[in-house]
Amino acid sequence: MDTSGIRRIVRNIIRPLKPWQRIPTMLHPNELRNLHDRAKEVKGAGLIADLGTWLGGSTGALAAGISANDSPATAKVKVHAYDLFLVDDFSKEQKLIPEIQLLNIGDSFLPTFLKHMAPWKDRVEAHQGDLTQQQWVGGPIELMHVDIMKNWDLTNHVSSAFYPHLIPGRSIIIHQDFAHYWTGWIHLHLYRLRNYLEPVQHVPHTSSFVFRLRTAIPAEALNRKVSPDDLDPTEVAAAFDWSRSIMPKDAVQRFTIDAAEAMLCYHLGDKARCAALTKKATEAETEFKRQYPDHIGRSELRLVQRFVDKG
Ligand SMILES: C[S@@+](CC[C@H](N)C(=O)[O-])C[C@H]1O[C@@H](n2cnc3c(N)ncnc32)[C@H](O)[C@@H]1O
Repeated sequence: MDTSGIRRIVRNIIRPLKPWQRIPTMLHPNELRNLHDRAKEVKGAGLIADLGTWLGGSTGALAAGISANDSPATAKVKVHAYDLFLVDDFSKEQKLIPEIQLLNIGDSFLPTFLKHMAPWKDRVEAHQGDLTQQQWVGGPIELMHVDIMKNWDLTNHVSSAFYPHLIPGRSIIIHQDFAHYWTGWIHLHLYRLRNYLEPVQHVPHTSSFVFRLRTAIPAEALNRKVSPDDLDPTEVAAAFDWSRSIMPKDAVQRFTIDAAEAMLCYHLGDKARCAALTKKATEAETEFKRQYPDHIGRSELRLVQRFVDKG
């Protein structure tokens, strides 16, 4: 009997995790692996930006990747990690992180982040504070991980203050909030820039989507704000259609894009449309599951349903 397959599975289960895989993180292992491998592949044309690092899971993966990069041109490339580094309700609820339990809401967890970064301390620089008040350190950005587009203002600030430093034809941008139910504005932001961005890859089973900057984006496009006060329903519908169109057909996360569209209606106060879109998408997801019985996971429509149920 050929047991090589079983041995490989057992080896994978018992293989010890690398230090960058042991940092507490909100990311899926596939997302960490993607960040690690992309940093390992950069050519040294610019720095790495990690916008929204929390306790350092994403930064650790990027830092380990750049440390494993063989190219001499990358020897001085650093990961610049931006965050408030302040304990909030969510961090406090993570009972498995004892150091955070000793802190109060509003305290800085920067020391914990720095402790996690110890193996790569020469490759990481932390920037603490509200991102909307911060600027990029300067110089080109070859790889940018964006896990911070949590509201309209943050989205606009990343666009105007960080995107201008990306390198046309080379830079990779990873949008962690792409298939997240809360962050509908991201689809409008990306749709307006779609002619400059090449969709590269949906990171399987996650909310992350990888883009490459095709050509330089004019400043006026980057400075044009997405705003609840400046929405054209036709453009909004086209934006979500575009995002759905770049997702793999068998990825259940495509329904999280529907969830984001429904949630955007909720954010804008149109609860009836939110409920109608959620119902339609939930039916479509049920049909999808019949069509793709081997798919893994489920979308975040159920999280929007909770808002619908609350009324
Ligand atoms: C989803 S978490 C990042 C998860 C992280 N990438 C990981 O690997 O676990 C988003 C982070 O954005 C940060 N954040 C939210 N609003 C911010 C702001 N206005 N300025 C700076 N950081 C902010 C939060 O503190 C939080 O750590």
